Amino acid sequence: MPSLLSSTVALSLAGAASCEYLFASHYSGQVYTLNLTNSSSHYSLAVSSVITACGGLPSWLTYDATAKNVYCSDETMSGTGSISSFSANGNDALTVTGKTNAPIGGVANVLYGGATGDGYVAIAHYQSSKVSTFRLPITSSSQPQQVFTFTMNGHGPNYGRQDAPHPHHVVVSPNGQFLMSPDLGADQIRVWSINQSNGNLTACPSYMVPGGTGPRHATFDTVSNGSRVVMYVANELANSISVTRVTFPGSGCPIFQPLEYINPFPNNKTAPSGSKVAEVHVSGTHLYSTTRVDKTFSGNDSVATWTIDQTSGMLNFVDLHDSWGTYPRTFSINKAGTLLAVGDQTTANVAILAINATGGLSSNPVAYLRLGSAGYPENEDGLSSVVWAE
Ligand SMILES: *[C@@H]1O[C@H](CO)[C@@H](O)[C@H](O)[C@H]1NC(C)=O
Ligand SMILES: *[C@@H]1O[C@H](CO)[C@@H](O)[C@H](O)[C@H]1NC(C)=O
Ligand SMILES: *[C@@H]1O[C@H](CO)[C@@H](O)[C@H](O)[C@H]1NC(C)=O
Ligand SMILES: *[C@@H]1O[C@H](CO)[C@@H](O)[C@H](O)[C@H]1NC(C)=O
Ligand SMILES: *[C@@H]1O[C@H](CO)[C@@H](O)[C@H](O)[C@H]1NC(C)=O
Ligand SMILES: *[C@@H]1O[C@H](CO)[C@@H](O)[C@H](O)[C@H]1NC(C)=O
Ligand SMILES: *[C@@H]1O[C@H](CO)[C@@H](O)[C@H](O)[C@H]1NC(C)=O
Ligand SMILES: *[C@@H]1O[C@H](CO)[C@@H](O)[C@H](O)[C@H]1NC(C)=O
Repeated sequence: MPSLLSSTVALSLAGAASCEYLFASHYSGQVYTLNLTNSSSHYSLAVSSVITACGGLPSWLTYDATAKNVYCSDETMSGTGSISSFSANGNDALTVTGKTNAPIGGVANVLYGGATGDGYVAIAHYQSSKVSTFRLPITSSSQPQQVFTFTMNGHGPNYGRQDAPHPHHVVVSPNGQFLMSPDLGADQIRVWSINQSNGNLTACPSYMVPGGTGPRHATFDTVSNGSRVVMYVANELANSISVTRVTFPGSGCPIFQPLEYINPFPNNKTAPSGSKVAEVHVSGTHLYSTTRVDKTFSGNDSVATWTIDQTSGMLNFVDLHDSWGTYPRTFSINKAGTLLAVGDQTTANVAILAINATGGLSSNPVAYLRLGSAGYPENEDGLSSVVWAE
C-alpha cells in the first residue's frame, strides 16, 4: 500500500520537531553546545551541554563540519595562551582532543591548506601582534609551525587602539590559495600565499588602508556570474564597511582595488557616537553586519541588512535590527540561510533571528538564551563566540 505508507511518512515528518546545534564560547572559560528545536515554527533554544575548556579566556570557535572538530582560541593576555581542539561527534557534548601552548591574545582562527582545506590552523593574536600556524591535529606536544611577529614605528592615528599591530581576524580567500589577516592596529590587510602541501605561508605585500580605518573582520563573495571576487571588511575604528575587488593573477600575489567605504548607517545618518562595526557575513545575495555602541554613549547595538549588487558586489542598505542584547561581538548564519544567531558579549546572550525568503530579518528573535555570567561594558568578559554546528 504505497499511498498509505507515504502519507504516514508525510504525517510523521510534519509532526516531527527538527533540531539544529550551535556552539558558543564564554570568556569565563566555558564552551557550550546549544540545541535549537523547531516544532511547527515554535523554536526553543537550550543548553545541551557545557564543558570548562580552552584556557583562561575562550575567544573564538571554528567548526570543521567534515571532521566534526571544533577549534577554540584563548585570548589569555599574559604568560602563555593556548589552542584547543574538541571532537563534536553527534554534535552534542564536546570532548577535548588536543590542547597546546600558543602565543597570548588569540582572538580568531581559521583552517587552511592540505587536500581538504583543514590541514592547518592559523591564529590571529591581537595582543602580541602575531599570526601563528599549527599543523593539525593539535596534540599536547604540538609546536607552532610558523609565528609571524609584526612591529610598527610609533602609533597609528587612533592612539589608544593603534599603539602596535593588532591582527584581529584570519580568513582564507575563496580559491583557498591565500590567507589574509585584517590588522586593526597597523591599518592593513596582511596577505600570505599558502603552500598546500606543507602548510607554510609566504608573505605577499599587504593591502594598505587609510590611517585610522582599523580593519577587524573580513569575508568574501563571488559575483558577476562567478567572475568577480569581492572582499568586505568591517572597519572597527572608522566604523565603516569597505568593499574591495580582489583579483588573483595566474601566479603571484592578489591585487586589491578599493570600490567603496560605507557608513553602516542608513542615508548617511550619523552613527551613534562610539559605534564600532564588529563583523560582516554573506548569505545568498545579502550581507549582514553588526555594530556595537560603546556603552558610555547611548544608542542601540544593531544587525544591519544589505543587498549585494550581483554585478559589482557593491552594497545597498536595507534596514537595521536590534541585536537583542549589548555588544554584538559575534554572529553566524546557518547554511540554509534561514537563521542568524547573534552573540551579544556584555549581556552574554544568543538571539536567533529568522531570515525570510527575500533575505529580510525578523524584527523579533525566534529564540533567545542567556549563557553564564553577564559581563561589564568594554571588558573582555561575557559571551565571545557563537557558530552553527554545520
Ligand atoms: C520550522 O519548521 C516549519 C515547519 O514546522 C518550517 O516551515 C520552517 O521552515 C522551519 N524553520 C526553519 C528555519 O527551518
Ligand atoms: C536539548 O538539550 C536539552 C538538555 O540536554 C534536552 O533536555 C533536550 O531534550 C534537547 N533537545 C533536543 C531536541 O535534543
Ligand atoms: C611547497 O613546499 C614544498 C616542500 O617544501 C616544495 O617542494 C614546493 O615547491 C612548495 N610549493 C610552493 C608553491 O612553493
Ligand atoms: C617552512 O618554511 C620554513 C622557513 O620559513 C622552513 O624552515 C620549514 O622547514 C618549512 N616547513 C616545511 C614543513 O617545509
Ligand atoms: C554564467 O556562466 C554560466 C556558466 O559559465 C553560463 O552558462 C551563463 O550563460 C552565464 N550567465 C551570464 C548571465 O553570463
Ligand atoms: C553618503 O555620502 C557619500 C559621501 O558623502 C555620498 O557619495 C553618498 O551618495 C551618500 N549616500 C546616501 C545614501 O546619501
Ligand atoms: C533602541 O531600540 C528600541 C527598540 O527597537 C527603540 O524603541 C529605540 O528608539 C532605540 N533607541 C535608539 C537610541 O536608537
Ligand atoms: C522579509 O523581511 C523584510 C524585513 O523585515 C520585510 O520587509 C519583507 O516584507 C519580508 N518579506 C517577506 C516575503 O516576508
